[in-house]
Amino acid sequence: MKKNIELPGQRRKVVVVGAGSVGATYCYSLAQSGLADEIVLIDRNMDLVKGQVLDLVHGQPFFPTVHIRAGNEEDYSDARLVVITAGAAQKPGETRLQLLRKNADIVGGIAEEIAKRNCPGVILVVSNPVDVLTYVALKRSGWERGRVIGSGTVLDSARFRHLLSTQCGIDVHNIHAYFMGEHGDSEFAAWSMTHVAGINIDEYCPVCGQCSDWNKQKEIIEKQVRESAYHIINSKGSTYFAVGLALVKITASILRKQNSVLTVSAVLEGEFGLRDVCLSVPCVVSEYGVKRIIASPLPASELRALNHSAEVLRAAIDSLSGQE
Ligand SMILES: NC(=O)c1ccc[n+]([C@@H]2O[C@H](COP(=O)([O-])OP(=O)(O)OC[C@H]3O[C@@H](n4cnc5c(N)ncnc54)[C@H](O)[C@@H]3O)[C@@H](O)[C@H]2O)c1
Repeated sequence: MKKNIELPGQRRKVVVVGAGSVGATYCYSLAQSGLADEIVLIDRNMDLVKGQVLDLVHGQPFFPTVHIRAGNEEDYSDARLVVITAGAAQKPGETRLQLLRKNADIVGGIAEEIAKRNCPGVILVVSNPVDVLTYVALKRSGWERGRVIGSGTVLDSARFRHLLSTQCGIDVHNIHAYFMGEHGDSEFAAWSMTHVAGINIDEYCPVCGQCSDWNKQKEIIEKQVRESAYHIINSKGSTYFAVGLALVKITASILRKQNSVLTVSAVLEGEFGLRDVCLSVPCVVSEYGVKRIIASPLPASELRALNHSAEVLRAAIDSLSGQE
């Protein structure tokens, strides 16, 4: 029988650094998705990795075929995607930006190691504060901009779509909507891009007529999205299910070259009049990360909100080098 020869780079190998709640949940969802040939889990806590891998491989009879194992830094050399979830989780009452200094060293060190091993793939940063850490990973890797991305507001956009779906009584799949800017307190709803059943929300609402005061409802929904993480963290300590699925969606677009439009965090180089800061805007995501940024004109209020996010993030980046 003819032997199946696998060319280097064809194997869809995903390395996950950080075997905590987010890393493990992502592995679990990724294994079920059938997207990866191989999933490698790394953590500085060796016992944790061992336990997570055993627990996952026992599910193999129920997954599409996928090889799951514990690994180390050598695994970066042929990974198509390295997902960084390593770091400290957000504590109740702690803002994302307070986590900055703690996690910048961890993520920066990992990015440097990935680059040193000549990884041919994409780095996807998840650890918070994700926009600043994406910037740190980009700089420390020395890679071109599209290949180092953050999960950004992909999760927040999903939360937004869920709330709109509930409010409008419309299938979430018939709602297109994005949260943009910082994955954090300054993030905002891009209402100008929000469509229900293909109709811009401002035209849809009068036709629908279900809300007595739509403008008030808009404010409530936007606030709910912004505060979602705080509510979940106060109830159960951390968030991991929805973010795990958001990461699988980003992974699908990379491994399958899907060109999905996702609000990942990417460094801007003049788009929207901003540069040298990572934040979330609609991006076309494909094999090599961000292929294109969709920099369509925004109304003045949304552009102001994006600028505000950029200022918040720039201050956080500067605080790392003591320039604040
Ligand atoms: N971007 C998002 O949408 C989003 C959503 C949820 C959580 N998060 C973030 O994801 C991160 C992980 O959250 P979690 O709940 O899984 O936390 P967790 O504490 O459960 O897991 C973090 C893991 O990282 C490991 N780790 C720390 N330093 C390491 C290093 N140098 N190398 C390898 N492993 C290392 C720890 O041992 C731990 O197992 C946090 O920063 C959290 O804030 C981001």
